Amino acid sequence: MKNDRIAVALLGAGRIGQEHAKNLAAFPQVEVVVVCDPRIEGAETLRPLVRARDVTPSPEEAVNRNDVDAVVICTPTDTHAALIERRAVYGYDIITEVFGENGKIVVQAEPKTPLREYNKDGYRLDHYHFFMDRFGPAFRAELEAFFHAIANGRSPRPGPGDAVESLKIALAATRSLKEGRSVKLTEI
Ligand SMILES: NC(=O)c1ccc[n+]([C@@H]2O[C@H](COP(=O)([O-])OP(=O)(O)OC[C@H]3O[C@@H](n4cnc5c(N)ncnc54)[C@H](O)[C@@H]3O)[C@@H](O)[C@H]2O)c1
Repeated sequence: MKNDRIAVALLGAGRIGQEHAKNLAAFPQVEVVVVCDPRIEGAETLRPLVRARDVTPSPEEAVNRNDVDAVVICTPTDTHAALIERRAVYGYDIITEVFGENGKIVVQAEPKTPLREYNKDGYRLDHYHFFMDRFGPAFRAELEAFFHAIANGRSPRPGPGDAVESLKIALAATRSLKEGRSVKLTEI
């Protein structure tokens, strides 16, 4: 990272890549150095929006650059694990942290099973095929808790009030991004 700016490679210029491009362009601290898509016309379309230095059809070229701090992966799901591992061997961490008043939740790119395949190029972990599968057990537990509460005459949690509070956080974050200042939840 140079001069407090994060240099980003954006991989994939399809539907979700276009959304991420808009968000990246909104942050003055972010510099998109390269947009990559084998459909080079898609990468070229996003180039002016994010003011990217380069475009390339080659994911290898994009992830092997040495002027990139972070990679935003917006490619088809079955390409994610290989792209993540390619960056990971260069020491990039893969982690999501959500902070709250009473603690935090951390989600990492954990493998699905302890299986690890070794070959001449290194090793490959047994990643989930589709990223949402990682949360399968959580969805199941949520549904079980919901039906258990109904069967026992209790109101399920989380309820509508929690949904409103989550929405307030999202609205405050959006207003904060647009207005470039901290926004208190009491303003929403
Ligand atoms: N579309 C959504 O609303 C949405 C929402 C959440 C998550 N996602 C996830 O985002 C990912 C992409 O979905 P999408 O809807 O944008 O698909 P898409 O087909 O619209 O776009 C994918 C793009 O990636 C390009 N591509 C393919 N292989 C590549 C590679 N190796 N390197 C660089 N670019 C490559 C394709 O040419 C294409 O332009 C999927 O994992 C999807 O589950 C999409």
